[in-house]
Amino acid sequence: MTERLTRAGLDRAVEALRAGGLVAMPTETVYGLAADATDPAAIAQIFAIKGRPVDHPLIVHLADADDLASWAPDASDSARQLAATCWPGPLTIIVPRSERLPASVSGGRPTVGLRVPAHPLARELIRSAGVPLAAPSANRFGAVSPTTAAHVHDDLGDLVDVVLDGGACPVGVESTIVDTTVEPPQVLRSGAVTTDEIATILDAPLAPASGPSRASGMLASHYAPACEVRIVDSADDAHALAAGTPGSRVLDLAADVARYARDLYTELRRADDDGVSMLIAVLPAPEGIGLAVTDRLTKAAAPR
Ligand code: TXA
Ligand code: MG
Repeated sequence: MTERLTRAGLDRAVEALRAGGLVAMPTETVYGLAADATDPAAIAQIFAIKGRPVDHPLIVHLADADDLASWAPDASDSARQLAATCWPGPLTIIVPRSERLPASVSGGRPTVGLRVPAHPLARELIRSAGVPLAAPSANRFGAVSPTTAAHVHDDLGDLVDVVLDGGACPVGVESTIVDTTVEPPQVLRSGAVTTDEIATILDAPLAPASGPSRASGMLASHYAPACEVRIVDSADDAHALAAGTPGSRVLDLAADVARYARDLYTELRRADDDGVSMLIAVLPAPEGIGLAVTDRLTKAAAPR
């Protein structure tokens, strides 16, 4: 049976993690499906429950930016600088994987993605567990990420031991991923921390993401609801298309891009719940977190 708990349930969640179980935890981006990152059996459970291919690496969550040194002794200066500036926060930093973390956590790669989430409940959970927590988004593979405890419950139901309810995720889209094991560093997934901000922190230009995609979130057709998604550039285009498409719905939060990010996945889910035939989404301005919203919408609209 899944228990849905708030802060008062922290002890129960820690107990579950120590016993090798899974806990859905709120973060500022999306809910994560967490397990002890040092326990190969617990990691295997994450892959099994999500239906995720075992070569798709997981992100490992630390309680504090100071923990970088002990979990990634070989992190580059760029990685350290980014961690010191952006953690806690929605930035995943790819570093060489230390022997302290099993190979399976990163799908056998010599690197691992680390981040310190900026959600009090998540940090308390990690701190109390006393180990880093591996956590992909708490949805089935290929589906839309959950941004509320209810979303997690809808998707994974009784497969999780404990769902910690920390309310709606304030950012709403997954963390930015930057690979600091290549020179210059490369952004593999856009998020609330922008490429421009990273370049400013490092005082160096970044390489454009190129070559074979290394982040699963970069694959076409990800983050997709069941209904068809179309993207358009303006509200006028959206309403023109909607007028000729029975059962369609327009999604236009472009006037408030932070809200667009926050509500995006709830809206994608709601479109399916309501049996919408086609969701017609207006793209926000291509700046700030608008780039991440555009990225997710483009993937939701990709041919399947
Ligand atoms: O905001 C987030 O990052 C959320 C919360 C829970 O922290 N987590 C999340 O995890 O989005 P997930 O598993 O859904 O996405 C992780 C992404 C995948 O695209 C994966 O390929 C990439 O991170 N990734 C992780 N480690 C990597 C590595 N060593 N090299 C390349 N990509 C990596
Ligand atoms: Mg995911």
